[in-house]
Amino acid sequence: MINSKLKQALAALTVSAALVAAPVYASTDAAAAEALAKRVEEGKKLAFGRAEGNCLACHMMPGGTSPGNIGPALIAMKLRYPERQDLFDKLWGVKAKEVPYSMMPFFGRNGILSDDDINKIVDYLYTL
Ligand code: HEC
Repeated sequence: MINSKLKQALAALTVSAALVAAPVYASTDAAAAEALAKRVEEGKKLAFGRAEGNCLACHMMPGGTSPGNIGPALIAMKLRYPERQDLFDKLWGVKAKEVPYSMMPFFGRNGILSDDDINKIVDYLYTL
């Protein structure tokens, strides 16, 4: 009898603990999702902008108008680059991973874009 009362009380405590915890997680997730959405939007602007990434000059990207076809279409990026670092290095222009005679600019190595801008573009590319 006492045992079952104790169990009931414990169950009630567990439920209320879960209720208290839930909104905290929810707000943290929402804030993180909002921050990521903002970075994705900025990354898209940098990628599409003729003065910054200008990726569209050479790559087809969903939603981009008048794309060039010098480079491969940028689609299914998470599948092709499961390691985020590999995609970052490709955009940065890491010498050891360089594709010989590629027309792809070395955005980081040549100081065209900051590391943060490249990371924003990677955030955006991962939505494609
Ligand atoms: C002047 C043309 C040009 C511009 C501008 C350019 N690229 Fe490229 N890109 C290429 C070419 C050519 C290749 C294929 C050879 C290679 O991998 O370097 C390539 C390859 C890539 C790859 C590898 C694709 C794969 O299938 O493995 C990625 C990712 C990429 N580019 C992303 C970008 C992004 C993002 C931008 C803009 C910030 C950009 N490129 C701007 C020409 C360009």
